[in-house]
Amino acid sequence: MVSLQNKIILITGASSGIGAACAKVFADVGARLILVARRYEKLEQLATTLQLTSQTAYLVQLDVRDRIAVESTISNLSPEWSNIDILINNAGLSRGLDKLHEGNFLDWEEMIDTNIKGLLYLTRYVVPGMVERKNGHIINIGSIAGHQTYPGGNVYCGTKAAVKAISEGLKQDLLGTPIRVTSVDPGMVETEFSQVRFHGDNQRAEKVYQGVTPLTADDIADTIFFCATRPAHVNINEVILMPVDQASATLVNRKL
Ligand SMILES: NC(=O)c1ccc[n+]([C@@H]2O[C@H](COP(=O)([O-])OP(=O)(O)OC[C@H]3O[C@@H](n4cnc5c(N)ncnc54)[C@H](OP(=O)(O)O)[C@@H]3O)[C@@H](O)[C@H]2O)c1
Repeated sequence: MVSLQNKIILITGASSGIGAACAKVFADVGARLILVARRYEKLEQLATTLQLTSQTAYLVQLDVRDRIAVESTISNLSPEWSNIDILINNAGLSRGLDKLHEGNFLDWEEMIDTNIKGLLYLTRYVVPGMVERKNGHIINIGSIAGHQTYPGGNVYCGTKAAVKAISEGLKQDLLGTPIRVTSVDPGMVETEFSQVRFHGDNQRAEKVYQGVTPLTADDIADTIFFCATRPAHVNINEVILMPVDQASATLVNRKL
């Protein structure tokens, strides 16, 4: 197992759910964390809870959709933070569950800009340094939605299918370097995901998980940690994981 002590790990979407759970597992093994999200106060709360200091965490308020801001964040990292070892492209969201022909343009643009373009911007600005240093690992958070489309999932599923293709393409383009590329693709995980999908309609969000034992953010962080700690010659390309109560994007066992 590779040690992550003092490794620099940049996690997007660290203010909630899977990203925040990743911060905890990686902080526990002595990694130094660059934590990125729009809600800065949530990052501060997380840093306090995990007892992180300015030596062990650098908090960045950043909207990953803003290419200029992503470039400026990465190019202005101080020398003690600039040699990023692991990039976890986790920031992402679904918006709505409408039929495609009734879909909301703003929802589409937010998903495409965050899940595809945001992930690309971070990758484009961070990976050249990894190539130069001959060291690095990019871990993209995809979804089973990238493997199977479900009714109303249309554009969200399209963005996650794009993440799958981008992860495969990046792996091919980095062949010949020691840099690793992994896609972790979960099924149902209970986080703020459904509240965000339904624009704060918590009753509708709760129904998603009713009668099911979903995965937790900690389950996903644990899987990401496994991928990040394999020996240097091992690349975990893709992990698909679901709760036992789920068999596909549409087949869920509800004990109601
Ligand atoms: N939960 C599931 O069932 C599930 C299943 C498969 C895949 N996933 C994927 O897992 C990833 C994490 O989601 P989650 O379940 O942990 O949901 P979550 O609790 O809603 O967390 C999403 C995170 O993404 C950040 N984010 C969203 N838009 C952003 C932007 N424009 N710029 C920077 N950060 C942004 C949010 O932070 P701010 O709002 O503070 O910016 C938040 O920290 C997503 O890519 C999601 O598609 C989730």
